[in-house]
Amino acid sequence: MTTTCHDVRVLVLWVLASASCAPGSGAVGDADSGTSGTTGAEPPACEIPVQGLPADVFCTGLYQGRDSGKYADEVMPYTPGVTLWSDGAEKRRFLYLPPGAAIDTSDMDVWKFPVGTKSWKEFRVGGVLIETRFFWKRGASDWESGTYVWDDAGEAALNTSKQPILLADGYEIPTAKDCGKCHHGGADKLLGVEAVALGLPTAEGATLAKLAAAGRLSAPPARATIELPEDATGKAGAALGYLHANCGMPCHSTRGLGDETELVLRLRAGEFWPADAGPDPPPVDATETDTYAATVSQVATTASVAQKFPDALRITPGSHEQSLVWLMSHRRDDYAMPPLVSHKIDDAGTQALADWIDALPAP
Ligand code: HEC
Repeated sequence: MTTTCHDVRVLVLWVLASASCAPGSGAVGDADSGTSGTTGAEPPACEIPVQGLPADVFCTGLYQGRDSGKYADEVMPYTPGVTLWSDGAEKRRFLYLPPGAAIDTSDMDVWKFPVGTKSWKEFRVGGVLIETRFFWKRGASDWESGTYVWDDAGEAALNTSKQPILLADGYEIPTAKDCGKCHHGGADKLLGVEAVALGLPTAEGATLAKLAAAGRLSAPPARATIELPEDATGKAGAALGYLHANCGMPCHSTRGLGDETELVLRLRAGEFWPADAGPDPPPVDATETDTYAATVSQVATTASVAQKFPDALRITPGSHEQSLVWLMSHRRDDYAMPPLVSHKIDDAGTQALADWIDALPAP
């Protein structure tokens, strides 16, 4: 089978069982395309548009046949070591790299994905599958993204609503436009498929070490496991990990939409893999990170924020109630952070933040 969905640039009717699109073989390192693991009754034809995404989730390549309980053999499950709070939803993530292709990791902070890369994230609320989000790199500078909303019959169609969908319990399904607001912060769209998040000991599945061992990184790092930066409080790691995944990955970095605030909350790969260090660099000191420099005892740069919270610094050592990073992540109004999609406070994450701030010695 030589023709793949990625090659076909005309509207085609494509049968899922043909295996040319459905990722279908096994482990992280599989280099051969293999055959699809599709099973069961004759599946309906899949329509793959020339541009954009298929209307039916079962045509994206994540599932075997039309069974949301069975994943295609070629997709790699993974969990970043630090994750985004999604109002309590349980999430499962998957990555597909085309056979034999590697992620360009020549800059460990700027991963570039091979054409054909796909990633999915499933969201379950109360154990029920609600949405499957999807990113697909169809061309060198052509990423498509959207989310599929599940119905009671076990089918999911691409969400085309221009308005966010709010479920009864307050859970929000974002619009396609919202994806870009956060994923702008990725070097090449994807956010959690990055060196720091996959290098932490809490990462699972296709971790940095496993991707490196399988030849899926063009320039594997000398050391594939890192620890979150720590300081004398012993509480910095959890707080910096929370800030990295929830604020820094999507927005508060030099490439995210929050760049203009100069509030960097992203842990940079260069902090863990310094250019001049040998194969075993020392653990990262939290006080040496960009995030520490941008937050601890620093004033707000956004005028409306400074006006609303006149007694607060970005981080006031010893007082989380006078620290903007806590104040804003611990509310859900016009000053809430993140400012979109989330409607429930992340109690555990903001508590980790408060614990660190309160332990920081006042100057
Ligand atoms: C509020 C910010 C935000 C919005 C809005 C958002 N995402 Fe994400 N997304 C993230 C972050 C942060 C991660 C990585 C952390 C994680 O997976 O927990 C991520 C991860 C993903 C992943 C797994 C691959 C990756 O990038 O790590 C997919 C797929 C994905 N998002 C799809 C979407 C789609 C599609 C939309 C729009 C319908 C969307 N996301 C909207 C922040 C967001």
